[in-house]
Amino acid sequence: MASRLYQWIDQRLKLKPLEQTLLNEPIPGGASWNYVFGSATLFLFVLQALTGMFLMLYYVPATDHAYDTVQYIQQEVWGGWFVRGLHHWGASAVMMAIGLHMLQVFFDGAYKRPREMMWIVGVGLLALMLGFGFTGYLLPWDQNAYWATQVGINMVGAVPVVGDFIVRVLRGGETLGALTLSRFFAIHVAFLPAIIVFGIMLHIFILRRVGPAGPHDEHRAKLGSETFYPRQVYMDAVVMFGVFLVVAALAILVEFPLADKADPSDHSFVPVPEWYFLFHYQLLKYAPGALGPLATWLLPALFFTGLLLLPFLDRNTERRPSSRPVMLGVGLGFLVIVFTLLGISLQHLYAVPKQDPSVARGIALVDQFKCQTCHRIHGDGANIAPDLSYVADRRPNREWHLQHFKDPQSVSPGSFMPKFPLNDKQLNDLTNYMLTLKGG
Ligand code: HEC
Repeated sequence: MASRLYQWIDQRLKLKPLEQTLLNEPIPGGASWNYVFGSATLFLFVLQALTGMFLMLYYVPATDHAYDTVQYIQQEVWGGWFVRGLHHWGASAVMMAIGLHMLQVFFDGAYKRPREMMWIVGVGLLALMLGFGFTGYLLPWDQNAYWATQVGINMVGAVPVVGDFIVRVLRGGETLGALTLSRFFAIHVAFLPAIIVFGIMLHIFILRRVGPAGPHDEHRAKLGSETFYPRQVYMDAVVMFGVFLVVAALAILVEFPLADKADPSDHSFVPVPEWYFLFHYQLLKYAPGALGPLATWLLPALFFTGLLLLPFLDRNTERRPSSRPVMLGVGLGFLVIVFTLLGISLQHLYAVPKQDPSVARGIALVDQFKCQTCHRIHGDGANIAPDLSYVADRRPNREWHLQHFKDPQSVSPGSFMPKFPLNDKQLNDLTNYMLTLKGG
């Protein structure tokens, strides 16, 4: 039945030659797990496109609705939190996949003649992906989105000659506002996808014309080639499935809450960029005074120019890493610097005292159960029961609080504090808040 149908279609569409190009592409040296990163990147890109389409069903790119619609997706829409989680973690995953893909190509020397064009288009694709990350970050219109974009736009403005112009085009006005959001949205869902789909097709087209690089080891390459189907297809599929499981697990397990709604007047807010911009963010902290603006744009410009010119700068035709000590050193040195900066930056981020969401919920519970009808906390509330402003100094013990909230009389005989109907999570939140109430 299926084969009859296939025949029927084949007689009309003549699929045989297509099958030849799609599946029987020879891979020199045979299939390898080293070649899965490109497919993983492509898969994640498709995942981003699909989840993005579903997010668009509810998202409204207007300053008075964006935040609410994202919150609505997160809290009300069936499965909305999951789709948003996939899109959020998928964005990070796509960056990692591109990074791994580039490292493989770099250390394998696969960018060398005759694959220079494929590398150059690939560098373009990386830049477009960063563009997706930058424009997507603003869309939820929360505090982080707003202020991180503000920082990003200021950085673009530091570029001499064209900086001002680009800023005006991106921002659509003197300040970051309604027009900026519309523009970022249009760039994110229309301009960039159109360009990148073309770029991806070009990338794959070139791959098909020049063929995959294969092993640098002559001996292995001689062992003969193998067609793309079945083993490479199988390896790619396994990796795609694995990548999906990881992204889905992150979406399910790691909460990704919105910050408060964007408040353009709150200049005290310190935004945190996405992790893949963090190392640069950290680097800027080491560039004082006049060096600052230079580091802002000159280093990224040099980096991208270097990447684009790499196949022409590195004219050594040898691909084996052991014969390319300089390039190997440059690559490893770059990785060490990036990861060191990223590490320092993450350490600083976690050192910044952030309000624990559990504590925030505890504060809300104190309000909800009107604890202040009896207790005073920092001058607010009645003075019938002990002042709680520094209660953790007197009672630093978590167990005591949990027990006390479950049943005040059990630890304070004769207490007239009511037994509140609290579930375990609420008990925990309230206790966490109590333990923050310390002097000095
Ligand atoms: C009707 C009055 C009343 C209300 C409402 C009340 N408490 Fe109490 N609370 C007391 C009294 C009386 C004590 C002292 C006796 C005891 O330890 O139970 C007390 C003690 C405490 C203590 C221990 C203080 C210490 O220094 O030992 C904590 C912590 C506390 N309450 C937290 C809360 C929280 C949180 C709420 C709201 C969820 C709340 N209370 C609501 C009357 C109240």
